[in-house]
Amino acid sequence: MNKKICLLPGDGIGPEIINEAVQTIDAVARRFGHTFSCKTALIGGAAIDAKGVPLPAETLAACKASDAVFLGAVGGPKWDQLDNKSRPEAGLLGIRKELELFANLRPAILFPELAGACLLRPDIVRAGLDIMVVRELTGCVYFGQPRGIETRDGERVGFNTMIYREHEIRRIAKLAFETARLRRKKVCSCDKANVLDVSRLWRDVVSEVHKDFQDVELTHMYADNAAMQLVRDPVQFDVLVTGNLFGDILSDEAAVITGSLGMLPSASLGAKSPGLFEPIHGSAPDIAGQDKANPLAAILSMSMMLRLAFGLEKEADAVENAVRICLKDGYRTGDIMEADKILVGTSKMGELVRERI
Ligand code: IPM
Ligand code: MG
Repeated sequence: MNKKICLLPGDGIGPEIINEAVQTIDAVARRFGHTFSCKTALIGGAAIDAKGVPLPAETLAACKASDAVFLGAVGGPKWDQLDNKSRPEAGLLGIRKELELFANLRPAILFPELAGACLLRPDIVRAGLDIMVVRELTGCVYFGQPRGIETRDGERVGFNTMIYREHEIRRIAKLAFETARLRRKKVCSCDKANVLDVSRLWRDVVSEVHKDFQDVELTHMYADNAAMQLVRDPVQFDVLVTGNLFGDILSDEAAVITGSLGMLPSASLGAKSPGLFEPIHGSAPDIAGQDKANPLAAILSMSMMLRLAFGLEKEADAVENAVRICLKDGYRTGDIMEADKILVGTSKMGELVRERI
């Protein structure tokens, strides 16, 4: 197989972890006889510094011309003073919108080898945690108009619009049910239908789509209750589908309870454009350039790319197994370090994974 990948290293630890992920798929290419050609483009703070904007037109063109996009992280204190439209984060939101990446898949998995890092009591996680958050990514209050800050009656008011069109809800619900079919066949849809009109529509449309997926169990839950249930009894969840804002919050919560944020990958998918793959941790500017970052989330994001963008199942399995063996062999970066384990840096961890592919 011959595929083109557009790399967007971005800011902070982005470039270091991307480097390990790229070397990982080079190892996959050698072992399985594929060719992955990578091209690098600017996004976020790096793009602001070089080009004055967080998402230059040539970056967008490079992404559109590729088969998949791989992103490190964006943002950092250096650009915190900029207004919302010019910040590094605007690059990320822009690319989601421009590539129509309406679905964000964020698996929250407790790796058995890292059970000790889990933030919840052992009796609560019992057999382990394996939740897939399916977050709508191009709608809701993130993009709704009107929005802004203006003066009314002599004082400033800030406002955003939470809006969903029926087709936006329909397509994310369909993807959630399809995802559940490959797992434990349960979807929990989270909304605030007790307060918000937009959530009433969300609930109605999700229920309509469910008619085509009768083999999958559907439940509805208010988002605040879901936030509580995620720490009280997370094992009840299989696929959790929700809108952009609730998904932003609930996916961070689902990820952090596993205790290994530095381990978790994500995929953003659209109907036709190339998918975008990225670790869910941020740019971690405090440890950037120190060979301390955990590259495993980026490496596992590569494996999601192999599986979801290219359909390369056994290659993806090989990467995931290599990561598991590294953990079994006792290697840890600082973020997941425990007593009696072997502390390694970013590049060593990458090398250890490659040796096991
Ligand atoms: C995420 C992040 C982004 C979001 C930020 C960086 C714009 O928090 O991917 O979850 O809010 O979507
Ligand atoms: Mg977030």
